[in-house]
Amino acid sequence: MSQDLYRAALAIRERAYAPYSNYKVGAAIRGAGGGIFVGANVENAAYPQGNCAETSAIAAMIAAGETRIAEVAVIGTGKTLCTPCGGCRQRLREFAAESAKIHLCGDRGIRKTVTLKDLLPLSFGPEHLGETAPAEADAAKVIRARAPKLKPKAVLILGSGLGPVADAIEGAVAIPYKDLPGFPTPSIEGHAGRLLLGRLGGVAVAAMQGRVHLYEGASADAMTGPLRLFRRLGAKTLIATNAAGGLNPDWPPSTLMAIADQINLTGRNPLTGPNDEAVGPRFPDMTEAYDRKLLKAWKAAAKKSRVPVEEGVYLCVPGPSYETPAEIRAFRALGADAVGMSTVLEVIAARHAGYRCAGLSIITNLAAGLSDAPLNHEDVVAAGRGGAKRLVRLLSAFLEETGG
Ligand code: HPA
Repeated sequence: MSQDLYRAALAIRERAYAPYSNYKVGAAIRGAGGGIFVGANVENAAYPQGNCAETSAIAAMIAAGETRIAEVAVIGTGKTLCTPCGGCRQRLREFAAESAKIHLCGDRGIRKTVTLKDLLPLSFGPEHLGETAPAEADAAKVIRARAPKLKPKAVLILGSGLGPVADAIEGAVAIPYKDLPGFPTPSIEGHAGRLLLGRLGGVAVAAMQGRVHLYEGASADAMTGPLRLFRRLGAKTLIATNAAGGLNPDWPPSTLMAIADQINLTGRNPLTGPNDEAVGPRFPDMTEAYDRKLLKAWKAAAKKSRVPVEEGVYLCVPGPSYETPAEIRAFRALGADAVGMSTVLEVIAARHAGYRCAGLSIITNLAAGLSDAPLNHEDVVAAGRGGAKRLVRLLSAFLEETGG
């Protein structure tokens, strides 16, 4: 989406006049009207009275009659990211909202996207930006301060009514999401909104008790920040759990289903927009969305824990309305075994960031039209709770089996 801006910044960098430092910089600004304006840095013997690339681009924009900035791309020279200097941050703010995106680019593309707001409180220089965006860096500090010894190997996302899983985590340190910048706080009943750091099945885990969903108005990438953060803290496995409606009429409520694959019918993707090459590729492969070895491990864990587990395909809709019987018939024809309103976007973001993923659905009800009973959230949460103890046993055995 912002590739044109990146290419414009890259191309103009060639025109930079930097005979003293050899540090060439290119900047491209997209104006609110859609036009792209470019500038390069200009040094001269009267240094420091040179021009930054961003300043040059702003001048070009003004000369063309545009006065609002939508987004900016900046590229310097070498491996270290070039961020707008303190002066240019102020200049950009003159014409751009604090939420305006600033793409920091390398020779192979956009490497990091921040907002002007992220940059403004910081002093000059890329080193102050660190390797993580400020919100994630802050959350990492809180996590390290409160659970200094724990290095989570697996990230667990707990779905509706799965509180008992949280209770089973040994030596848990609980941190409310509100203390963790960048962690989106869920708004609905059955989703607590806290992070638990402890051990389950002998494995160090970071368990997110509560997640946000599209139907709450959350953006498609709302869970992406926390997932990337845990990846940076060393986690390699994601285990996403959820409550789901069952499409197989032979599966009674509280059946557990290991997710073998997924169908994303949300019409959304958490990776839309500029790609952060430092996290993962522009076009991540989803052939093995759910890791094959981990999928096998559910079967072994089922034997060990004597908790039976089915296997199937999870289909995600945006919700919040439950499905119609006609939709459920269509989803069965598409190859789905369970339907819900979570998980698939998290798994896309996690695969992009290099996690191996496992998923477990607790079938809380027969999907619409497969029984006479109308669906309601309270029954779904209650059914989730009903099966949660078995889920804990299965999950603990799974973690023992896989080692995280
Ligand atoms: N449909 C969608 N989401 C769900 C369902 C369902 O039947 N049950 C639990 N979550």
